[in-house]
Amino acid sequence: MTRQSVVIGCGSYLPDRIVTNEELARSVDTSDDWIRKRTGIRERRIAADDQKTSDLAVNAAKEALRAAGIGPDNIDLIVLATTTPDETFPATATRVQAALGMTKGAAFDVQAVCTGFIYALNVADNFIRLGQANTVLVIGAETFSRILDWEDRTTCVLFGDGAGAVVLQSLEQENEREMRGILSNHLHSDGRYKDCLYVDGGPSSSKFVGKLRMKGSEVFRHAVTNMVSVLEEALKCNNLSAKDIDWLVPHQANKRILDRTAQKLKLSPDKVVVTVDRHANTSAASIPLALSEASMDGRIQKGDIVVTDAMGSGFTWGASLIRW
Ligand code: ACO
Repeated sequence: MTRQSVVIGCGSYLPDRIVTNEELARSVDTSDDWIRKRTGIRERRIAADDQKTSDLAVNAAKEALRAAGIGPDNIDLIVLATTTPDETFPATATRVQAALGMTKGAAFDVQAVCTGFIYALNVADNFIRLGQANTVLVIGAETFSRILDWEDRTTCVLFGDGAGAVVLQSLEQENEREMRGILSNHLHSDGRYKDCLYVDGGPSSSKFVGKLRMKGSEVFRHAVTNMVSVLEEALKCNNLSAKDIDWLVPHQANKRILDRTAQKLKLSPDKVVVTVDRHANTSAASIPLALSEASMDGRIQKGDIVVTDAMGSGFTWGASLIRW
């Protein structure tokens, strides 16, 4: 018998406020045409002033629990990926734990920026495989709008706020060939590239939270290379090829990055789940938001081969290959 982590429910939450490209073009020197052509983004959601990352996370978590048909008492661990925690500490995951009414188990945050959800999924999967947890809530939640320089057109048009969550549960299985759940995880980082994408503040380096700074074209180049290589690594590890992929659910940074990645893998664009047009880049939230959308609308079906991959600041990058 092998113990695997199976996704038993997904949920998502987007703030009500929609900010279109046209609205942005009224405050910075940009245009709907430029943003669409370079990124594929049409609009993004922005959290209300009184909405914190934990508020978005709690809404997504509740939906995931409903979809899984279980209550918060069944959860024994929360792993929350975020780069925009409510406060420096405590971990935003503990705020979610309290808001859900959970008084047992453990909760902590994982920080790997746009790759955060893949890191969180890997951590949760290890807890389950080792028998240290049975049912884990894995959340990606961000309020990136709070760390954007709204006068910098090269970055402020790219990001949005939101949250997504999945519930992972252990499943003992015998049949190796038909094994469901997370089949493998692949994590990487290379800290030499920290200056390509970072926030110029933080508790140990300055008095301020800071704002996001980015060398866009450098990030673009590395994103395609690293996302393709980690997908190839995940496929090889499972003796699969790109034609075995039912759904690629990538981190949603830029439609051109998604198209280029699919092209290099010779994967049909129909197999790529795309939300960047409506959500923009929601960092650690983008993959669970996309997973949630594609599982709720019936595209992702039980038994499908689903591959998620991401690349983000650090640089960090990674992939998870799942038989749904
Ligand atoms: N509106 C209008 N013009 C703009 C804007 C804007 N919002 N932003 C930049 N420009 C201008 C630049 O000033 C430049 O003008 P110039 O030629 O007069 O100097 C011109 O457009 C071209 O700028 P580039 O930076 O070369 O444009 P590029 O084609 O590289 O597109 C972009 C920029 C969209 C940022 C692209 O590099 C990109 O997507 N990079 C990846 C960044 C990313 O996704 N980061 C997210 C975090 S990491 C991750 O999630 C993978």
